[in-house]
Amino acid sequence: MNGAAEQFFEEGASGLTGRRLNEVMPADSPLFSLIFQASSGQTSVAEYDVEITFPRDRTRNLAITAAPLNDDSALTVISLHEQSIARRINSQIAHRNASRSVTGLAALLAHEIKNPLSGIRGAAQLLESAVSEEDDRGLTQLICEETDRICDLVDRMGLFSDGDISRSAVNIHLVLERVRRIAKAGFGRHVDFIENYDPSLPPVYGNADQLIQVFMNIVKNACEAVPSSGGKIAIQTLFQHDVRLALPGGGSRVQLPLIVSVRDNGPGIPPDVAPNLFDPFVTSKTDGTGLGLALVAKVIGDHSGIVEFETSEQGTEFRLRLPMHSDDPTDSQRSDKIARGFGE
Ligand SMILES: Nc1ncnc2c1ncn2[C@@H]1O[C@H](COP(=O)(O)OP(=O)(O)O)[C@@H](O)[C@H]1O
Ligand SMILES: [Mg+2]
Repeated sequence: MNGAAEQFFEEGASGLTGRRLNEVMPADSPLFSLIFQASSGQTSVAEYDVEITFPRDRTRNLAITAAPLNDDSALTVISLHEQSIARRINSQIAHRNASRSVTGLAALLAHEIKNPLSGIRGAAQLLESAVSEEDDRGLTQLICEETDRICDLVDRMGLFSDGDISRSAVNIHLVLERVRRIAKAGFGRHVDFIENYDPSLPPVYGNADQLIQVFMNIVKNACEAVPSSGGKIAIQTLFQHDVRLALPGGGSRVQLPLIVSVRDNGPGIPPDVAPNLFDPFVTSKTDGTGLGLALVAKVIGDHSGIVEFETSEQGTEFRLRLPMHSDDPTDSQRSDKIARGFGE
């Protein structure tokens, strides 16, 4: 054990060496099943957001990884990360609340704007048949077109609205390819895209249209962040075994083995924006809406996934953890149930 572990157990290595783990950790802790899985399966396993109560009532929130020391060893390396990752997940859960307030806003908009708009549109149509001048008819048409445009905008806000999404097996590489093509044809013309896809990646259990929107928002931000010459965006997919997310309230755990990472070489997220990054209307851009990442948080939440980010002056990485499609219908029912119940 290292120095950090001594601090964690509030006891020196000399006093702990040679004692059984179940004397220093509660015996019902998930740690023991993780060690068993790691040593019997010879793979590394991880579990986030594990609450462990120690004697003297200290409760710790941990991310635990257990991995065999090497291929043919009976030794298992255990790493305990206090809070850091767990805190990121908690703030992700807070983002869900933020997107809830957008949900409310969208409903309000739909009600308060669309109803009067249809009245305006109807009145303009009536006028159109009454006016004789060609110029005046042009004006009534303008009213109709503009009200349609606002309706469309409100409908797009409706993406935030609640409601069960329909999900199926989605090839995430097709989604990413599509986003890259659209970017390359427009806002990302100046950017060098580097793809590093795991070809054996199983399908995501998701909604393709919404996932396109999610990656569009993330890639667009990256394109806006990178320098106008020498801008680079690396998109990577990978499979990670045994990452489970504990749900608030305990009980079910959802497996999130599919990872998509989008990394740019921009200047990093401004420090004043970072703490509320996923809140609606948080933007550092003069013409920004601050809705891009709020939508990302909302949609990924609906998928029972996680968004994480890391940022420095050298660049920013967004990492999305997503559930896998399963051929077993009871698995997807379970996942749907979890997605609906999440954060409530
Ligand atoms: N890849 C990135 N690099 C640097 N800053 C970013 C990046 N992605 C997001 N941001 C920051 O997050 C803010 C919010 O993003 P977003 O919700 O998409 O709204 P908008 O793009 O309209 O500002 C941006 O204004 C920017 O400050
Ligand atoms: Mg944006």
